[in-house]
Amino acid sequence: ADQGPFTNVPDSDWTQLTQRKLIESAVESFQPEQVIPLQIDGRFLTPENPNAAYSPANTSQALYHFHCAGKAQINQAYQCAHDNQNYWNQLGAATRREMLIRASRELAGQRSQLTAALVHDAGKTISEADSEISEAIDFAHYYAKSLDNSSFFDGTICTPRGVITVISPWNFPIAIACGGISASLMAGNTVILKPSSKTVLCAWLLAQAFWRAGIPKKVLQFMPASRIHGRQISRHPLNNGVILTGSANTAEQILITNPEQFLIAETSGKNAMVISANCDRDLAIKDLLTSAFSHAGQKCSAASLAIIDAQLYDDESFLQTLKDAARSLNIGPSYQASSKIPPLIGHANTRLHKAATQLEDGEKWLLEPHLTSGQSHYCTPGIKLGVSAQSWLRKTECFGPILGIMRANDLHHAIQLQNDSNFGLTGGLHSLCDIEKDTWQRAVEVGNAYINKATTGAIVQRQPFGGWKRSSYGPGRKAGGPNYLIPLMHWHDDGPPE
Ligand code: SER
Repeated sequence: ADQGPFTNVPDSDWTQLTQRKLIESAVESFQPEQVIPLQIDGRFLTPENPNAAYSPANTSQALYHFHCAGKAQINQAYQCAHDNQNYWNQLGAATRREMLIRASRELAGQRSQLTAALVHDAGKTISEADSEISEAIDFAHYYAKSLDNSSFFDGTICTPRGVITVISPWNFPIAIACGGISASLMAGNTVILKPSSKTVLCAWLLAQAFWRAGIPKKVLQFMPASRIHGRQISRHPLNNGVILTGSANTAEQILITNPEQFLIAETSGKNAMVISANCDRDLAIKDLLTSAFSHAGQKCSAASLAIIDAQLYDDESFLQTLKDAARSLNIGPSYQASSKIPPLIGHANTRLHKAATQLEDGEKWLLEPHLTSGQSHYCTPGIKLGVSAQSWLRKTECFGPILGIMRANDLHHAIQLQNDSNFGLTGGLHSLCDIEKDTWQRAVEVGNAYINKATTGAIVQRQPFGGWKRSSYGPGRKAGGPNYLIPLMHWHDDGPPE
């Protein structure tokens, strides 16, 4: 039995030849199964013509096919989840905990295969994929141990919500889905996983790890579905809650469709890193590039703005170093170990296209990006100077590797620019001055505030993740934090634990 406190798993150690070889061979020999079914009511279903799925590294040839649920299967899934919820709750927290710990071990045991799936299906670079698997293992383990040794689950002061639908994204298709599933299951809910249609394979492999760990198929169902069924899902009378990671618009749409729906949503960001004149310049540049360009900027946590103190902004050598460092990032398919910037998951969206091709008055390129199409779609890193408080880019999340640079007169001005946003997910500061750090930390309006580090890659338990303003909806506590399970249950008179 696993009695000790939770600890994070380390990423693979690339200095070890055996670990490198293991992952390289998994990536090279990766062969997904050809057709992915639904799993509803304990049965594998292939209801209609399957959809083709493509690797971002090669959009000319299908990587696999997958099925989507229609109206009847969606009803069947909710009925099954509802009918089995009491059974799952009655099994007791200790049994659920054990199964989830087993699920985290299953994921750890499959690290190289899952990493390879992320590389091919989601277009992640090998090291980004490897870190995502660490996060997934941590989520299952951490939530298993949440509210450990407590009587909260015995039904006297709380009961599960019922059926939770986990709507997971394509940019963290394993870790984020794993977090939503693990937390919901631990709290005694049954789960319907509706993964992004862009990364069904990753979600499928994840679901299999849970089933192998002993989670019954009727307790965790696998239900890809197309957008046209969004309304049916959010309004379904047997759907007791949704955990969504997606755009703010999707979250708002769910609430418009069904204002009564219980929703925890982690949504968009327009994140900025403030760079003070009192920073370690090399470190600031390194962290800024990681924040802006890793996974080609396709993360809600990515920094797409840098707010730079005038003294540095006006220093040509600083800008030149930033430009040179960005140009040195290798662009290439995710399966190549040297790639730092992988292809986009699909065509550049219209916002990214505009961000990469247009300049407004006063803006100019420090580094001009290029969009390419062919077997895969790349956007090379772009850095735009002269972004003003009124600029379109300053307000719009583009989900790509375009970084806008703003000039701030001083730290107070920088904070004002950073906070003047409808979003509040992540934010960064690079400064070596304790007074500046303290001032910034007290004033910045974001959920995840990082000092002298990148704004991406939150670590379970150490950096619970979740935002303010339009970056978050519902009563959700931060993912990977101590209280995430609380809103997944109904609480009786005494209320949740402090
Ligand atoms: N948790 C991820 C990160 O921190 C984003 O979802 O980058």
